[in-house]
Amino acid sequence: MSKRWIMIGILDSGIGGLRAARELLDRVPDADLIYFGDTARSPYGVKHGDTIRRNASEGLKFLLAAGATIICIPCSDISGAGFDLPDGLPRRSIIDAVSAGTHAALALPQLNRIGIIGTPATIASHAFEMALAAAKPGARVYANPCPLIVPLVEAGRLTKPETFRIIKNCVSPLKRRRVDTLILACSHFAVLRRTIQRKIGKRVFLVDAAEAAVADTAARISGSPGAVSRGKTSRFLVTDRSEYVEHAARILFGGPVALELAPIPPIRSETSPPEAS
Ligand code: DGL
Repeated sequence: MSKRWIMIGILDSGIGGLRAARELLDRVPDADLIYFGDTARSPYGVKHGDTIRRNASEGLKFLLAAGATIICIPCSDISGAGFDLPDGLPRRSIIDAVSAGTHAALALPQLNRIGIIGTPATIASHAFEMALAAAKPGARVYANPCPLIVPLVEAGRLTKPETFRIIKNCVSPLKRRRVDTLILACSHFAVLRRTIQRKIGKRVFLVDAAEAAVADTAARISGSPGAVSRGKTSRFLVTDRSEYVEHAARILFGGPVALELAPIPPIRSETSPPEAS
């Protein structure tokens, strides 16, 4: 059987996808992995979809140029906004949180009333609602943006009373709707999974969209005959490496992680004066 080199690329808005990277390395320990997190321009969750799409498209090109052959997108903001497919990368080589999370939810037995929580950008994209409506037309879907969870996780305020209060406020409208399933449509939310489960109620199934993207990526690799890695190398590139980023990266990765500064993409400013001709 002929061999095919596999290198996993992870495309993320910043550091939330490090949790997915950790899980992927646990599931596919032999993998070569390259991570691209756009920390200079994150959070994406408060940006317009067009901005997210433009930035994500640059990240995708970067990963392709770095040799990635399969790309996992655990970031719901990117998955919801979409991206331009670079030449040479087939769409089937990209596994995104919206498709994987929807697919994982559809596998559940009691999927009739579905709640979605995510960043404002993910909720505004309506990507999960559209995917669910196409696959399960009769289901009721309710979405609620939760903008404060990302900064709380990154600041490590995981067990603080304000965090519990914010999560309660975030899931309460969905609890009132009596959802049977709750999709965690953000890379950061699973860090607070236990608290979210407590606040929404133990009978509600939680689906972590980022984890679903990881599981699908791992399954794709293990189901791909002849797939081999070159040498178990992992690189974690980010576009900004402030002290804040380094600290938050440890929280999301669950331990020390060596971040490198990515050479691209260039940081563009919409307001820069035009160049003199
Ligand atoms: N990675 C983003 C997501 O999964 C959360 C962080 C951000 O908004 O940049 O939606």
